[in-house]
Amino acid sequence: MSRIKCIGILTSGGDAPGMNAAIRAVTRAAIFNGIEVKGILRGYRGLIFDEIIPFKSNSVSNIIQQGGTILKTARCKEFTTVEGRKIAYEALQREGIEALIVIGGDGSLTGARIFAQEYNFPIVGLPGTIDNDLMGTDFTIGYDTALNTIMEAVDKIRDTASSHERLFIIEVMGRECGFLCLNGAIASGAEAAIIPERIEEEDQLGELISNGFRKSKNSSLVLVTEGDITGGAMGIADRIKRDFPEYDCRVSILGHVQRGGSPTASDRILASRMGAAAIEALKDDQRNVMIGVQDDKIVYVPFSKAIKKNKQISDELLNVLKILSI
Ligand code: F6P
Repeated sequence: MSRIKCIGILTSGGDAPGMNAAIRAVTRAAIFNGIEVKGILRGYRGLIFDEIIPFKSNSVSNIIQQGGTILKTARCKEFTTVEGRKIAYEALQREGIEALIVIGGDGSLTGARIFAQEYNFPIVGLPGTIDNDLMGTDFTIGYDTALNTIMEAVDKIRDTASSHERLFIIEVMGRECGFLCLNGAIASGAEAAIIPERIEEEDQLGELISNGFRKSKNSSLVLVTEGDITGGAMGIADRIKRDFPEYDCRVSILGHVQRGGSPTASDRILASRMGAAAIEALKDDQRNVMIGVQDDKIVYVPFSKAIKKNKQISDELLNVLKILSI
């Protein structure tokens, strides 16, 4: 393959803290290697609606500490159509962009995979999502920051929960994936984590209540992953009102606060490593792979594997929560 001279970079799907650090790393590593960079605004939309701007080294100054994404982001319906992707390809040709770096989650990498196959176009993905639901990488960019945000919020809820001796149901994000919920519960010392992956196997709420949570504690904190599978915090609260009306229960839905804020050191370092690795991957003639990190080593994960949606929740973590919440 001839040497790539110009790349485009975009962020797509839900924003995640650390995306800016990744944009900075990709841009600087590309320029370091003599590759021109173009920023594509609002995800795949920018390709379809021609919002493409030149990026220089100073375009990414002072952003490593900022949450969100300076490139903006969107979930682009047009890119899911054959016609939309054709317009996107024409824009890439016109701009002389020979490879794309896509920073985003499951949906964004699924789009990247389809486009890469359709047009035989080199794309390298970076896992940018708070959900940590991409296969082949131990961590995604934004997950650690969101986890810390959850921990800080639950610490605050604990103060009021214990003052009023109440049961709190706290809903966290994650789509159909329980990483934020389970690790958020362990980090904040909660009593239970109700996660989609285990909903059919055990009734954690029933167990917690039948063990009599008030016997040794004056309050209780239960985290639940959003969505239909668990029923979310409102679903759990309805059940408590119906089946255990003796408990004074309150609901707190953390919502989009989990997506914001300055990235943690871990997320900044992860994003910087992955951004630099994306350029190395292109130089190595890799295409249609996501950059992952496994056992602290950079790895290339084919898109088909990354988006498989069956990242395993560890039984060890579930046990730790169970043991420590007695
Ligand atoms: O994928 C990231 C995420 O924050 C999920 O945890 C959540 O379900 C979803 O995005 C919310 O998306 P939106 O901001 O479009 O409502």
